Amino acid sequence: MRVLAAGFIFALGLATSFSAHAGVPPPRPTEFDICQGCHGVFAQGNAELGAPRIAGLDAQYLGRQLADFRDRRRGSGAGDAFGAQMVTIASMLDDTTIGRLAAYVSAMPEVQVPTTLSGDGKAGRAAYTTCAACHGVNGEGSVSLGAPRLAGMTDSYLARQFVAYASGMRGSSAGDDRGAAMRGITAGIKGDKAVRDVISYAVSLPGPATFSATACADHPAGACGSSR
Ligand code: HEC
Ligand code: HEC
Repeated sequence: MRVLAAGFIFALGLATSFSAHAGVPPPRPTEFDICQGCHGVFAQGNAELGAPRIAGLDAQYLGRQLADFRDRRRGSGAGDAFGAQMVTIASMLDDTTIGRLAAYVSAMPEVQVPTTLSGDGKAGRAAYTTCAACHGVNGEGSVSLGAPRLAGMTDSYLARQFVAYASGMRGSSAGDDRGAAMRGITAGIKGDKAVRDVISYAVSLPGPATFSATACADHPAGACGSSR
């Protein structure tokens, strides 16, 4: 009972601190609680659990992924153990709840996420030219193209997704047009090292919130995206 009460008070505290954020309606106290167990209290992710950072992803993308998991357009492929966890969670969510959660998570403050992938970002820079067309020169993503932000997100998760698109574990269900688009471009990146390198470059980009001319000049790879 004490634990429950403490959890409840903590959740209330979180809801209060985040509701100050850009006028986003907070989810009901219990709605985000279930996500925290795997994605963390700041939605920063937990690489060991395979759960990515989701804080700061665009609300439309978040909402679409949750609906895709729920409606079995994502996460139901053979052998997709990580995706299956999200299918279970999302099956409990209706459209209204998904909308609230997506707005809330997308407005969460920036978090720093440790990198765990042994990739060489500089080596991946040239390959990122292709990706920049949809994911942006700063890795910020494109809402209109449905391409999510990659900058600052969980690198091990992104590499796993890239391989999942390549194998068809993600992006080959009926109705998953965006996933199919992403599948189409995986053929250009061959081998595990090339995948690690391009993802390491992508996550190191400044992204939407932290972007500035100074951040670009100071960027370890020397510029923000290869077209600059
Ligand atoms: C049991 C652990 C667990 C719980 C609880 C959980 N997730 Fe996840 N979530 C995962 C894992 C693992 C993945 C990676 C799935 C994959 O590899 O395709 C994921 C992926 C996601 C993604 C896809 C991110 C992207 O970049 O495409 C979203 C969005 C998401 N979760 C939102 C949520 C929300 C919102 C909740 C709470 C309602 C939640 N999750 C609860 C484990 C969990
Ligand atoms: C033609 C546009 C396009 C190009 C080019 C493109 N992507 Fe994507 N990418 C997308 C879209 C759209 C999605 C979301 C698909 C979905 O909803 O499943 C996506 C999703 C992803 C994801 C999953 C992100 C997540 O949070 O789950 C990764 C990783 C990724 N792309 C990496 C890359 C890399 C690396 C490149 C360059 C080699 C690249 N993409 C090029 C459109 C593109």
